[in-house]
Amino acid sequence: MAQARRLARLIGIAAAVVAAGAATVSAAQADQAPPAVQPFVVGGEAADIADFPYIVALTTADGFPFCGGSIAAPTKIVTAAHCVQGSEPGELAIVSGRTDLTAAGGVTAEVASIWVHPEYDNPAVKADVAVLTLSTPLPATPIPVAAAADTALYAEGTPTTIAGWGRTSEGGPASDTLRKAAVPLTSDATCATAYGPDFVPASMVCAGLPEGGVDTCQGDSGGPLVAGGKLIGVVSWGEGCARPGKPGVYTRLNAFSADLDAQLVGQEPVPPVR
Ligand code: ARG
Repeated sequence: MAQARRLARLIGIAAAVVAAGAATVSAAQADQAPPAVQPFVVGGEAADIADFPYIVALTTADGFPFCGGSIAAPTKIVTAAHCVQGSEPGELAIVSGRTDLTAAGGVTAEVASIWVHPEYDNPAVKADVAVLTLSTPLPATPIPVAAAADTALYAEGTPTTIAGWGRTSEGGPASDTLRKAAVPLTSDATCATAYGPDFVPASMVCAGLPEGGVDTCQGDSGGPLVAGGKLIGVVSWGEGCARPGKPGVYTRLNAFSADLDAQLVGQEPVPPVR
């Protein structure tokens, strides 16, 4: 026990020394070396909610943010099954229209019901997608969800946008303010090489750079992967965050468009006339 603590202290000191060494090196190289990738989302930059009107934070009933989501219709939020499975609607809330989650502004909404894809628990399908129905419609402009025919949006190298309030480095703190980054889709073969049979190409798609450095991370789950102005994916999983050779894995939404259409169509309560 005491030995373990001593060891932990030693490792801590070693890490501090390494960090100090690294800081010296980067200061010395500061005028030649390009700036390191910024650790937002991971490897992204500050974003404004005005540019992502459809993104929401999924919070506990008392306001602690833990996942993202996207407004697909005024009362419908597309998110990840793993964010909400096992929750009751009363345990969840949505924050819309707010860049800084610690600031005022925007709109909060209660969740009236939760639909989790019935095949989420099936390892051969792993449909990591859910739809929340809100008690009150949101005023923000929704984002269209990729249709079954939108296969071209899933081609290798397609530029995508990711965004969220998740961790800004693997194991690091989450962000109070919205972050965004750009990442290309990988091929299915690349993702299968990275993850083996855990990657199910029929229901997942991967995005990231071969060298890593840009990715979603814990807390971004459920949030959007956008290409061509459409919601093509939902942040799902990855090994660590932004590691070389380990792209982020996203739910391939066009594989579930029939189920999603059934959830999204005609369910909204009519907003009050005045
Ligand atoms: N499962 C994580 C969450 O619940 C998201 C992880 C995404 N990881 C990645 N490397 N892209 O927030």
